[in-house]
Amino acid sequence: MKFLVVNGPNLNMLGVRDKNIYGSRSYRDLVDILNKWAKEKEIELMIFQSNHEGEMIDFLQREQFDGLVINPGALTHYGYSLRDALETISVPKIEVHISNVHKREEFRRKSVTAEVCDGQIIGLGILGYILALEYLYQKLTEKAGF
Ligand code: DQA
Repeated sequence: MKFLVVNGPNLNMLGVRDKNIYGSRSYRDLVDILNKWAKEKEIELMIFQSNHEGEMIDFLQREQFDGLVINPGALTHYGYSLRDALETISVPKIEVHISNVHKREEFRRKSVTAEVCDGQIIGLGILGYILALEYLYQKLTEKAGF
């Protein structure tokens, strides 16, 4: 079983950008935490970040995978090509946001990508990525039993 975690623009700046909003963990910390989870679960995990919408789409179209966790960054709010790319992906997809976008600027309340994902996890910090991966894992291994 192979999962992808895809992060969009500026998420490579975790630990540097506003720590009150995004916490003090660096992008490297996030990668390490996710890889540790995958190792424990014996899941193949690929983690990708790009500041470019087209690169994210190329990556999604190139890879074969069973589940996707995506934080599109600001593309969430206006990335129509990414939205269309996500629409053609038939495996389970969860959108994650580190911050609570509903407590922030008005423009962050709209997600053009959420409507083509199975669910959204918002405002729970980087734990949101783990919760999303857990969902995919339980769904695909039918471990949840409910
Ligand atoms: C974000 C929220 C977006 O509005 C913002 O542009 C980001 C990060 C989050 O994880 O909270 O880059 O996706």
